Amino acid sequence: MMKFYLDTANLASIKKYNAMGLVDGVTTNPSLIVKEGADFEETIKAICKEVYPNPVSAEVTATDYEGMVSEGKRNKAWAENVVVKIPMIPEGLKATKTLSKMGIPINMTLIFSANQALVAAKAGASYLSPFIGRLDDIGQDGMGMIADLVAIKRAYGERFKAEVLVASIRHPIHVLQAAKLGADIGTMPAEVMDKLLMHPLTDIGLKRFLDDWNKAKKERPSITA
Ligand code: E4P
Repeated sequence: MMKFYLDTANLASIKKYNAMGLVDGVTTNPSLIVKEGADFEETIKAICKEVYPNPVSAEVTATDYEGMVSEGKRNKAWAENVVVKIPMIPEGLKATKTLSKMGIPINMTLIFSANQALVAAKAGASYLSPFIGRLDDIGQDGMGMIADLVAIKRAYGERFKAEVLVASIRHPIHVLQAAKLGADIGTMPAEVMDKLLMHPLTDIGLKRFLDDWNKAKKERPSITA
């Protein structure tokens, strides 16, 4: 079953969907952290506490090997369920190799091809984040990349350990297609998760049931006995 992650640093949204049992994990990035306007460390600690033991990705902002390793260790020390997010660049691969060897789980982000994902998995990443929406935005086939990656993972079975974390999801069809392909995880903004739950016919149907019930109760008070 595909896991649902929320792609946000907004604690209220996370609490809302976590109460419904829909949050298998959380991904953040520097843009999402800045959007909430709160301290990075405090934000990550609060999210980690809310969704514990589910994983929470906290991204490094350094772009050199030493900086990424040092920030990765720092982020991991904030909470047991932190996953360190590292960009798909050569220095990031080196940092992934080092940190994953220490037992720190890595989510490799900003992946835009199945080959980049393969490379990330080889370096030791536990989660591979291919960005589908941003590929669609430039006229390329985001979901095609997921299809390739899922096929590769399936071909290797148990030998392919990393999870395919579909990122940059923009609408419910992305979720549906990723699930049909058998992707491990989809991370989505709250607006997309909301659209997965809602259907106008559910609301219309519920209203009709309750109208009928209340009308009958007025006419025949014994109906609730
Ligand atoms: C993934 O981890 C990223 O935070 C995210 O999915 C990026 O999505 P966007 O392209 O909508 O910014």
